[in-house]
Amino acid sequence: MKVKIMTHFCNCAVVALLSLAACAEVPDGKTGVEWKEPASGVWQISVGKPEKLNLLSELDLHPKWNAINAMPKAELPVNRNEIRFEEVDGKTYIRFPLDKGEKIFGLGLNFKTVEQRGRILELHVDHYGGKDNGRTHAPVPFFVSSKGYGAFINSARYIKAYVGTGVRKDSQNPPAVQDRNTDPGWSAQPYSDNLEFLVPAEGVEVVLFAGQDMQDVVRRFNLFNGGGVLPPKWGLGFWHRVPTLFTDRQVQDEIAEFRKRGFPLTVIGLEPGWMSRAYPCTYEWDATRFPEPEKFVNDLLQKHIRTNLWFNPGVSPECEIRDAIEPYTASHTEWNGLVPDYRMPEARRIMLDHFKKHQLDLGISGYKMDENDGYDNWLWPDVATFPSGTPAEQMRQLYGSLMQRMTTDLYREKNLRTYGLVRAGNAGTSSFPYVIYNDYYNHRDFITALINSSFIGVLWTPEVRASKTSEEWLRRMQTVCFSPIAMLDAWADGTKPWSFPDVEKQVNEISLLRMRLIPYLYTAFADYAFEGTPPMRAMNLEPGYTANEQIEKGRLDGTENPYAMAVKREMKDQFMVGENLLIAPLFAGETERKVILPQGRWYDFYTGKLAGEGEVITVSPGLDRIPVYVKDGGIVPLCPPVTELDGTKLPLEIRHYGSKPGTFRLYDDDGETYNYEKGEYTYLTITVDVSPDGGKQGKVSVPDGRQVWSYNGEYTFRYMTE
Ligand code: GAL
Repeated sequence: MKVKIMTHFCNCAVVALLSLAACAEVPDGKTGVEWKEPASGVWQISVGKPEKLNLLSELDLHPKWNAINAMPKAELPVNRNEIRFEEVDGKTYIRFPLDKGEKIFGLGLNFKTVEQRGRILELHVDHYGGKDNGRTHAPVPFFVSSKGYGAFINSARYIKAYVGTGVRKDSQNPPAVQDRNTDPGWSAQPYSDNLEFLVPAEGVEVVLFAGQDMQDVVRRFNLFNGGGVLPPKWGLGFWHRVPTLFTDRQVQDEIAEFRKRGFPLTVIGLEPGWMSRAYPCTYEWDATRFPEPEKFVNDLLQKHIRTNLWFNPGVSPECEIRDAIEPYTASHTEWNGLVPDYRMPEARRIMLDHFKKHQLDLGISGYKMDENDGYDNWLWPDVATFPSGTPAEQMRQLYGSLMQRMTTDLYREKNLRTYGLVRAGNAGTSSFPYVIYNDYYNHRDFITALINSSFIGVLWTPEVRASKTSEEWLRRMQTVCFSPIAMLDAWADGTKPWSFPDVEKQVNEISLLRMRLIPYLYTAFADYAFEGTPPMRAMNLEPGYTANEQIEKGRLDGTENPYAMAVKREMKDQFMVGENLLIAPLFAGETERKVILPQGRWYDFYTGKLAGEGEVITVSPGLDRIPVYVKDGGIVPLCPPVTELDGTKLPLEIRHYGSKPGTFRLYDDDGETYNYEKGEYTYLTITVDVSPDGGKQGKVSVPDGRQVWSYNGEYTFRYMTE
């Protein structure tokens, strides 16, 4: 076996000639490690001979350098010399040091675990199979460390990660040697002080991100990838996907029923039955179920409802462009359908023209791009070949990202934002308007995935399909309404929001609360787009989610402090939404739960009462409510409980919680075009002042000469905390 050490010894005289920021080191004249710092707190490291094709190379991303440079400065909290790169047997080996107690987050869309230390993963795009082993819908090779930095391994290969498992003989902090015969404390997994990656390629680009805290690390990563997506406003309403063989008439009847019962609806999703043939697909309308597709789509638009269409990658022999696309397809089919090689411009053009003709030009608002993730028996195996010469492995890691990019571009050409669903993605897709979903349907694990999505620059929806009981139904509805897409996916079960009559009222209330929250959520997404802050986030990304302050105050001894112990535990069932809201869902069968409140005071969203302050509370909210808490001084603007978004300018009820003064910058734009990228947007500043006697005074101000698209100037303040 060949082992070549790639250190980054630095000849400063030479480096000074090259560039101030770059530190080039070429140990043998051929391979080496080169560090660059393109922006504050970001280091791009070229190791060996990186492949031209990587996770970002096909995505036309534009890093938001200005936003990164505007962030608080941050140093790399690890010694560069301790990050090691070697070439081993034609592969690239990378090692990061781990401290005692250091936590590692990220490394793909996991469903059962949030902390990855102690795990072995092979990052591989796949349909999630029930184990956190690296095979998942978005196996993003990016980790965030609790030390305040993160690393992205930019390779479209199946990367192996040993997250604090291997024990090296040159370890700086070796575990104690124990005798299994006599020592009951002997462990089959001794302590390991390193995080090791193996990339099956002769070189790779590694990008490091620093931050004052983990949230800043994630923000830098997202901004490096072009920032987060800003969905069209209608995308944040309520979605309903109808049974797969529904006809146009049945869809219309369903919409009428939503209206009659007062349920909100902004998007209808059509499943495979909209097409003349599916599995494999024609991407053309079925003339019996949808004889007049254009009229159908326009009727819905008149009702302010957008249409989203399902499809998957395989092209049917009966598709009108079958012969044209054939030369640009893979050696293997998906369910007998030809698989376009989306790395080829010809393939993209043929398919996009087809989509335009049958869908976009009719007014379709977006897609659900299914089954581009796995398994190996229905998606291509690694022996498949593609006419562009792209290896099957790299195509697998990139296919979902390629589909996201090309469909986004199609809408961009029309200056229209889209928002849809996808089953596969990877690093670099944070700016694309897609939310991941799957068939796994475990409510608790769906929330863990929602938490994990925030570390790796993707969005996830815990969609609702069916339930065994009305309790489960309501609990699922309560969480989906605090996620990137509030959606009932009734493709198989034909469920309706009112399917469980005994909780119809509560489901109605939570779906209308979702609508009321749109101004707040839209602002959270603007923060994602411009500042890289994930709109739904892990508690571990919340700066106040730490025990240090309490321990330092000496109020309690850290070892016995239940709060300190609680925040150290893996947090898989509580998350943040936007700047101010903390969501603590309950699952079927539960009547009470513990909630860990970060530092500072927190207030009950519904009543404004003090809930606690940097402590663990136990709550039993009853079935009707999902526990939601607001930060002290938190402002939450709510629009009326509308059932559709018809473009009318709306009044706002502006809620203020707690006793501190507050400020909220409410984002507004036209809600559907890309004009915001040219500066056509406005931040309304909402402030609440608190006088020494506790009196509160709220104000909304709009900068001079700026347009307001969504609000009519009627602002009512509600000071929720007496
Ligand atoms: C599944 C998908 C479902 C539904 C179904 C239609 O693979 O996850 O949401 O779209 O296909 O056949």
